[in-house]
Amino acid sequence: MFTFNTYRFTLIAAAAALAIPASYAQAPAKLKVGFMLPATGTFAALGTAIENGFRLYLNEQGGKLGGREVEFFKVDDESDPSKAIDNVNKLIKRDNVDVLIGSVHSGVAMAMARVAKSSGTLMINPNGGADAITGSMCAVNIFRSSFSNWQPGFAIGQAMAAKGHKTAATITWKYAAGDEMAKGFKEGFEKAGGKVTKELNLPFPNVEFQALLTEIASAKPDAVFSFFAGGGAVKFVKDYDSAGLKKGIPLFGTGFLTDGTLDAQGSSAQGVLTSLHYADGLNTPRDNAFRLAYAKTFKMQPDVYAVQGYDAAQMLGVGLAAVKGDAKNTEGFAAALVKATIDSPRGKFTISKAHNPIQNMYLREVSGKENKVVGIASKSLEDPATGCNL
Ligand code: BEZ
Repeated sequence: MFTFNTYRFTLIAAAAALAIPASYAQAPAKLKVGFMLPATGTFAALGTAIENGFRLYLNEQGGKLGGREVEFFKVDDESDPSKAIDNVNKLIKRDNVDVLIGSVHSGVAMAMARVAKSSGTLMINPNGGADAITGSMCAVNIFRSSFSNWQPGFAIGQAMAAKGHKTAATITWKYAAGDEMAKGFKEGFEKAGGKVTKELNLPFPNVEFQALLTEIASAKPDAVFSFFAGGGAVKFVKDYDSAGLKKGIPLFGTGFLTDGTLDAQGSSAQGVLTSLHYADGLNTPRDNAFRLAYAKTFKMQPDVYAVQGYDAAQMLGVGLAAVKGDAKNTEGFAAALVKATIDSPRGKFTISKAHNPIQNMYLREVSGKENKVVGIASKSLEDPATGCNL
């Protein structure tokens, strides 16, 4: 029954609501972001660069994405696939994160994606290239700000053939990233008329390259393709040079072979040709501003991993803005991202239906302390996304 008291209460409540300044209105809950990245092991520096890049973009947005302040939760995944399910469950079940950011290692990223897919948690992968993540395992809530293993492998295969090389040996770590980059390379190289004559590998993260280098010397291919990254890449490039192979059998690779590693590789890396979706010397206003801000903030130069972290934050911001900060609305988030153009330091890119960047693969040559861009190995390259039905 509507009494005088109800009427009085309603009036008081309305007056109180009007008197509350907007600044006291309830702020949305903080966005819980879970970083699952390596902080130890051969990929530790890659994890740091990804986190730095993410934080740089967030700072540029005044600390908010999709109107929400951000709170971080972290696990060191040690680049160990056998611990990945426990690690991702810590973020989802213990910390209750809204979004997962990770990881670097393809095997770890695949395990994360499996859990993200079954729990429906939003995930942006800022490196791990396993083709299946945006292929047969693709899902409405899973995105990449990086690459599929096939993309840089295919591009450098075509570039090696274009240099006139007819035969090649491949050497990689034996796990998804090595296998798939070598497969992409072989496809690109052989489609362009080359022939892979020797396929070598060793378990991740081993760095005892000597026996395999001896095999390359006796096989005498025209050129070598390789994938290693982080600490392993530093040792491989130095060992290849020390074994006296570099002059007679030119070394090619996906760009991870020389990205973020040139200080430690020194003269052994000079002249190595690689393909990647980022390079030094792009000299665009967007990249120059990014590089300056990164160097000022972190007192070091950015690399591809920093760009992927920066763009993971950027993609998160674009998607969340479209769904007014509601990270559970993965359909709305996805619909916005596949229509978006991401203004990345690497150059603008769009996101495929399978949620992988469609992007230029630059051809880069190591010169001094830079992976200098010398051309575009493959323009706007889209992963075939085999098995994805999004
Ligand atoms: C990977 O495992 O997918 C990966 C690791 C380091 C660099 C590039 C790819």
